[in-house]
Amino acid sequence: MCGIIGIVSNKSVSASIIGALKKLEYRGYDSAGISTISNGQINEQKCTGRVDNLEKILFQNPSNGDLGIGHVRWATHGMPNQINAHPHSSEVVSVVHNGIIENSDKLRKEFEKKGYSFKSQTDTEVITVMLTDFLKKENLINCIHKTLEKLEGSFALGVIFKDFNNLVVGARRGSPLAVGYGHNENFIGSDSYALKSMTNKISYLDDGDFCILYKEKVEFYNSDKQKINKEIFELSNEDNIADKGDYKDFMSKEINEQSATTKKCINEYLDKTRNEINIYNLPIDPKKINKIRLIACGTAYHSCLMSKYWIEEFTSIDVEADIASEFRYRKVKLNPNDLYIFVSQSGETADTYAALEKCKKNKVKTCGIVNVVESSIARSADFVLPIHAGPEIGVASTKAFIGQMIVLYLLTLKIAKERNDVSVEEYTKLVLDLKKIPNLIEETLNKQKNIQVIARDFINAKGTMYLGRGYSYPIAMEGALKLKELSYIHAEGYAAGEMKHGPLALIEDGMPVVVLAPKDRFFEKTISNMQEVIARGGKVLMITDDTSETTNENIRFKFQIPKTNSTINSFLLTIPLQFLAYHVALLKNCDIDKPRNLAKSVTVE
Ligand code: M6R
Repeated sequence: MCGIIGIVSNKSVSASIIGALKKLEYRGYDSAGISTISNGQINEQKCTGRVDNLEKILFQNPSNGDLGIGHVRWATHGMPNQINAHPHSSEVVSVVHNGIIENSDKLRKEFEKKGYSFKSQTDTEVITVMLTDFLKKENLINCIHKTLEKLEGSFALGVIFKDFNNLVVGARRGSPLAVGYGHNENFIGSDSYALKSMTNKISYLDDGDFCILYKEKVEFYNSDKQKINKEIFELSNEDNIADKGDYKDFMSKEINEQSATTKKCINEYLDKTRNEINIYNLPIDPKKINKIRLIACGTAYHSCLMSKYWIEEFTSIDVEADIASEFRYRKVKLNPNDLYIFVSQSGETADTYAALEKCKKNKVKTCGIVNVVESSIARSADFVLPIHAGPEIGVASTKAFIGQMIVLYLLTLKIAKERNDVSVEEYTKLVLDLKKIPNLIEETLNKQKNIQVIARDFINAKGTMYLGRGYSYPIAMEGALKLKELSYIHAEGYAAGEMKHGPLALIEDGMPVVVLAPKDRFFEKTISNMQEVIARGGKVLMITDDTSETTNENIRFKFQIPKTNSTINSFLLTIPLQFLAYHVALLKNCDIDKPRNLAKSVTVE
């Protein structure tokens, strides 16, 4: 949520700031802005809407200066308008902020009493005012330190000062901030992805740290104002590949990549010569795990729900899946014999990270399943399992979901084997089946055209339901989330057996309903639930691997997935649901990669 960039260089920085903001746009896109120091003055320019608008403004009215900060906003306090867009500047200081200042109302009143006035409705402007006030009596380090000390909540900050025209300040508490090292220039950015075109050498601020960037060096300080050193990481070249190629948008690219990304992920974990899953050194001996708790948000939470079914199926371990924003505040009894697994594409989701920190404080064993291996969650967890999906840019998570499920499935099988919950023969068979997933996904991807046809049924729908039982239920929930997030049509994912307990009342003539009915042990029961929907006028899209004609009667459309072992057909059921959401959104002219009101990396509560 919100993207920050800051650059100090020996050449003009505005073009590089715009370039980086375009990369950061997935974090927020309701307004954008830039500040540089030129001719001894702060030059602030901002606008509503996308970075393209800001670029046009700068084209008319160039922003010179060899240091500056930029921002893309996802509004929290105050409407997304030009005044509330960042940076927020006074005569002497300009600030960009990601996060939420929880005591901003109190601070605002305190500084209003001192005679300061505020231009915007944002929580950020109190930071500008406080820095301006402290600068009158403190040196730079004390000014930053005293300001940070007064802030409650979460933040990543980028700051420039009129009277320190050779430096940019960065600070972090709760929201991520990376530092990049260049030749005669240095950078701060909300993530390494934004900095990758400028450098592959990165450090990360930890909570409470701040840094001062000069063009030839970077100084780091901890929350006690002590100078500290930071480890420098070298980013792999592989992760630089993040353009759309020939695709219309990132989402279609990312959906179509899923056969390749699952193959890569499986290859990373499977032994080349034996049918063995190379996951060793878990923070608890698998034989001694008392319970597994899976914690995540949104799509990542759905992968946890999916994994709950697998863990129950293959192991003797008790398991629970939790929504991170609930888990972090509940009085959960944390147990040293339990394994706590945190799943997150970005590795920066504020609620998931806070839930992880709660576990760390209580010294229980944690494991992170992430896509971004340099992320806060990856750096904080005791043990990390990357999903190897490559950068996911579309706000709607697709290939990361499949990747999370692959890793969770691999982990489940490995734990099951280590505990002797499955026999060696069964384990080998399951691993062999798993190897077939990339090709089966490819086969399913090739059927995209069939879904294009049915998408028309959904565009004028008031609402829709996605139904599934057993392994298909978490996938129904994920399918519904994809549709609402992309096409703004109300959609509910429901356990098919629950329909008669209330939601059946919603079904009316012509309502599109998606039924996931693979030929598993629930098949007959799901078909009965589907008939109940059809009897009330529901127009059913059935997704199944069943080839018999008998179920066809009264079904509006049937999408056939390839036949496979029933514990892994969830991977295949997911694909048509992604396509469906995509094509409905396309027909409705929605912004596919940047759905309204959303952002890719949710770094606020
Ligand atoms: O980066 P994370 O996986 O932690 O993100 C969690 C959710 O915000 C994310 O999955 C969200 O629900 C997606 N936009 C859904 O497509």
